[in-house]
Amino acid sequence: MIRQKIEEWKNNNEIKDDLYFFLLASLLESADKIANTASVYGAYLKHLKKSAQKELVLQPAIYELKENKHEVFNNDGNILISRIEGDILYLDPPYNARQYGANYHLLNTIAKYDNFIPKGKTGMREYNRSHYCSKNLVKNEFENLIKNAKFNYIFLSYNNEGLMSIANIKNIMRKYGEYDLAKTDYQRFKADKNEKRNHKAARTIEYLHILKKSD
Ligand SMILES: C[S@@+](CC[C@H](N)C(=O)[O-])C[C@H]1O[C@@H](n2cnc3c(N)ncnc32)[C@H](O)[C@@H]1O
Repeated sequence: MIRQKIEEWKNNNEIKDDLYFFLLASLLESADKIANTASVYGAYLKHLKKSAQKELVLQPAIYELKENKHEVFNNDGNILISRIEGDILYLDPPYNARQYGANYHLLNTIAKYDNFIPKGKTGMREYNRSHYCSKNLVKNEFENLIKNAKFNYIFLSYNNEGLMSIANIKNIMRKYGEYDLAKTDYQRFKADKNEKRNHKAARTIEYLHILKKSD
């Protein structure tokens, strides 16, 4: 109902693009708060958890008005990189093989509000597959991004359990300038903690790879 109303306002030119996207962001965040999932949408839970029993309340997305202008792109980073330049490039790509498009498909469906044919038990839609989630493709993809980046400084967040090892990243980045590494201990993300997987440590190490790019 909320989603339909937002679309109706847009189609009737009652709201402009900026308000349309603000309302969509607000709906996505509000819907996520009461989702009956273990944080990601790859599967739903059999029983309604406590937070999912609450009513959906549309709350405004957290948003600060600043003087500085900004632009938001919805594009593959490796394609976008040839069209943008700047002082600092901050990268936070996926670390592991779990595709975001699959794990957050329901939010994409709310955002797009299109017609698609649901497939399988989870009703998953078609989604973009990121090369950053492929053990075979990630190194090449990452190197191309670094090579083509027209930025003075590049920062990459990546943890110690990612598809690329610390050495892989270091070897790629140092080809393109002055490299440094910072690290911090981090509480494991909750969705991971609950999974029956081999790495049981509650903490993980978060690395910040830093590159001062040569001219
Ligand atoms: C670790 S999350 C980043 C989270 C973000 N920093 C935040 O705080 O919300 C990785 C993101 O990269 C996106 N992604 C994956 N492959 C990409 C690509 N080739 N180009 C652009 N974005 C990509 C995923 O969809 C996901 O949203």
